[in-house]
Amino acid sequence: MDCVKLVLFCMLYPFLCQLAFSSSLPHLCSKDQPHALLQFKQMFTINPNASDYCRRSRTLSWNKSTDCCSWNGVQCDEMMRQVIDLDLYCSGLQGKFHTNSNLFQLSNLKQLDLSYTDFFGSLISPKFGELSNLTHLNLSRSSFTGIIPTEISHLSKLQVLCIWTVVAYGLRLGPYNFKLLLNNLTQLRQLDLDSVNISPTIPLNFSSYLTTLWLTRTQLRGILPKRVFHLSNLEDHSLPHNSLTGPIPSNISGLQNLQYLYLTSNYLNGTIRSWIFSLPSLTYLNMRNNTFSGKIQEFKSKKLFYVILKQNQLEGPIPKSLLDQQYLQTLILS
Ligand SMILES: *[C@@H]1O[C@H](CO)[C@@H](O)[C@H](O)[C@H]1NC(C)=O
Ligand SMILES: *[C@@H]1O[C@H](CO)[C@@H](O)[C@H](O)[C@H]1NC(C)=O
Ligand SMILES: *[C@@H]1O[C@H](CO)[C@@H](O)[C@H](O)[C@H]1NC(C)=O
Ligand SMILES: *[C@@H]1O[C@H](CO)[C@@H](O)[C@H](O)[C@H]1NC(C)=O
Ligand SMILES: *[C@@H]1O[C@H](CO)[C@@H](O)[C@H](O)[C@H]1NC(C)=O
Ligand SMILES: *[C@@H]1O[C@H](CO)[C@@H](O)[C@H](O)[C@H]1NC(C)=O
Ligand SMILES: *[C@@H]1O[C@H](CO)[C@@H](O)[C@H](O)[C@H]1NC(C)=O
Ligand SMILES: *[C@@H]1O[C@H](CO)[C@@H](O)[C@H](O)[C@H]1NC(C)=O
Ligand SMILES: *[C@@H]1O[C@H](CO)[C@@H](O)[C@H](O)[C@H]1NC(C)=O
Repeated sequence: MDCVKLVLFCMLYPFLCQLAFSSSLPHLCSKDQPHALLQFKQMFTINPNASDYCRRSRTLSWNKSTDCCSWNGVQCDEMMRQVIDLDLYCSGLQGKFHTNSNLFQLSNLKQLDLSYTDFFGSLISPKFGELSNLTHLNLSRSSFTGIIPTEISHLSKLQVLCIWTVVAYGLRLGPYNFKLLLNNLTQLRQLDLDSVNISPTIPLNFSSYLTTLWLTRTQLRGILPKRVFHLSNLEDHSLPHNSLTGPIPSNISGLQNLQYLYLTSNYLNGTIRSWIFSLPSLTYLNMRNNTFSGKIQEFKSKKLFYVILKQNQLEGPIPKSLLDQQYLQTLILS
């Protein structure tokens, strides 16, 4: 093949082309990228105690003399030869995460997963806010502590933000920063925060793309606002272990895709509203440990799998429709 044909072939069949010519191709990775990755890696040791299902060898394959785009956990943009995806989930990395980490030179990153690593209680660097192409960021269980910097709200392309921690790490957002975050992250589809202290009240400005709203143990308090149910793409609505009060708003409609409704351990009261019993996609309903009262109404939903309503003040008969659910596996009304 001459050069033009080869290029055409590679454009049409990039995968085959890569297979056929991988040994003879020059490095895809542009020069600065492997340097940044290796410098980043050098700041850490590999935790020999990381659990067996982890991929401790992940960064061991990182070797100057090979193409960095072929390294474990690294993916590049084929045209620009820049690292766009770095997945170090459970890679055993252990050590201080420096504010000026070389990681921040990978300015084209779109997806970054640092979850299940051990950064020894480091602070989250404000420089995360400079990775402006990020669409996915996962900092779960990586033992970061302290205040989540305001700069995170510069990541206006973010679609997925996941930070699960434990209360003991004291990870929190500054006052008003949750509101700021939601005002700017208008592309968010998935917001997963667990045990991050976000703010005393629920702000009202959620991205309309949200499919997952998961705010567990985030110290929310005050009346549960109607606005959190005006999100027509929601599939997972989870606000358990907070201090939300008042009734569930009435007359909510349009939640065609809602599968999980999880409001355990709040101070919600009043009746369990009729619209909940009519959600067409609902599979998981957990309202345990609130002060709901009144009757359980007939379910129009047909896909229920899991229903837990215990530790409330409900009364009256068990609806027939609940016992007729063909997929139901767990029902607890105690
Ligand atoms: C690994 O676990 C052992 C036993 O619990 C402990 O003594 C050691 O310090 C741990 N090593 C690291 C690097 O955490
Ligand atoms: C890196 O790769 C080269 C060539 O495959 C090999 O000779 C060398 O031992 C590797 N170095 C490390 C540190 O794995
Ligand atoms: C990152 O974003 C900039 C500005 O939007 C853009 O020019 C660049 O192509 C993006 N990088 C990648 C790898 O998409
Ligand atoms: C984030 O990381 C945690 C822990 O590794 C994982 O369970 C979770 O699925 C990840 N979330 C996303 C949105 O990737
Ligand atoms: C919102 O995002 C834009 C674009 O990234 C940024 O310039 C601005 O500073 C952000 N605002 C806040 C409050 O973070
Ligand atoms: C919601 O966010 C938009 C920008 O995304 C802003 O203009 C508006 O003022 C915000 N509304 C509230 C109630 O914060
Ligand atoms: C529900 O709780 C709110 C605030 O705690 C209270 O004002 C209201 O009277 C309660 N409603 C019922 C039906 O118990
Ligand atoms: C809810 O809808 C019912 C029936 O359409 C109506 O009677 C009731 O006033 C509505 N309640 C609210 C709070 O809008
Ligand atoms: C019930 O919920 C309250 C409020 O969140 C919490 O303080 C309490 O520990 C929960 N009790 C149980 C048994 O889960």
